[in-house]
Amino acid sequence: MDNRRVFITDVTGRDGFQMEKHWIKTEDKIRIINRIINSGVKRIEATSFVSPKAIPQLRDAKEVIELIKRDNVEVVTLIPNIKGAELAMEADVDEVNVVVSISETHNKKNINKTVDQSVKDIAEINKFVVSNNKRVNVSLATTFGCPFEGIYEVRKVSEIIKKLMSMGLKRFTLADTTGMANPTQVSDFVIHLKTVFPDVQFSLHLHNTRGMGLVNLYSGYNAGIRHFDASLGGIGGCPFAPGATGNVCLEDVVHMLHYMNIPLDPDIDELIKAAKQMETLLGYKLPGQVMRAGISTATFES
Ligand code: COA
Ligand code: ZN
Repeated sequence: MDNRRVFITDVTGRDGFQMEKHWIKTEDKIRIINRIINSGVKRIEATSFVSPKAIPQLRDAKEVIELIKRDNVEVVTLIPNIKGAELAMEADVDEVNVVVSISETHNKKNINKTVDQSVKDIAEINKFVVSNNKRVNVSLATTFGCPFEGIYEVRKVSEIIKKLMSMGLKRFTLADTTGMANPTQVSDFVIHLKTVFPDVQFSLHLHNTRGMGLVNLYSGYNAGIRHFDASLGGIGGCPFAPGATGNVCLEDVVHMLHYMNIPLDPDIDELIKAAKQMETLLGYKLPGQVMRAGISTATFES
């Protein structure tokens, strides 16, 4: 395989929709997610099995998983605890993405547990999910800094990874929950963690809160990351982190990588159409840029 190839996980259905104030009808969620799948995205985090009190927008998780077009795509759901894992297994998802924060304060606000309690839960979740022949990914929220606690040394991140690896976990997402990372920090963290944990599959989950999303992604790519999360139109954010805004925008990421001649699956034209449809549906201007400007090689009549 071409070692430049990039693999995208679309997180519109989860990170994107969880932040929307107005209820999005289940059929509209399905319409958008299916369009993203039809554009060639091979992996989607479609929803979360979380408390409906914590994230009311995703209370239709079961229906969403039942109704999306599931051939030719890996379906992931975010979960915070064992109950989420049970619901995800009932829904027959391919993988669960269990979240724990590097930050004690954010973990408490997000999932009402200490980091140690979450780590213990993840061990139990892993056993249960693996016994169902499914995979577990761990998302490390606030890896690059927390709006309550500030920026961490990479050692704090590697300590948690080490503990979780001793429990059998092998796949980790380094999440920049509120867009605090900068390109130097991303490459320093990635190079360090890939050196210490050569057998781990790392992915990057970046937010564009301070306009550094794409440059952080490029920095992560140059440091050897090939798996990235992104959301259509650049929507999303964590409701339990002050100032959170959208993910790196799916079609902007695909556009950049496509013009860098990096192999990847999604079709940029289809994604732009999908983003425009979602903008109409959500009823406000989305942060995505390529959906407005068009692809860079488009020419206009003079
Ligand atoms: N899925 C659905 N419902 C769940 C659930 C899950 N994974 N986990 C708990 N619940 C329900 C319980 O059954 C209970 O329902 P009830 O009030 O009708 O009896 C209620 O939620 C509270 O359960 P409890 O175990 O006391 O949890 P809590 O109030 O301490 O909240 C979490 C903890 C983890 C459930 C909640 O904080 C959560 O769902 N967080 C998700 C945060 C998130 O998605 N953030 C964005 C992504 S990073
Ligand atoms: Zn996020």
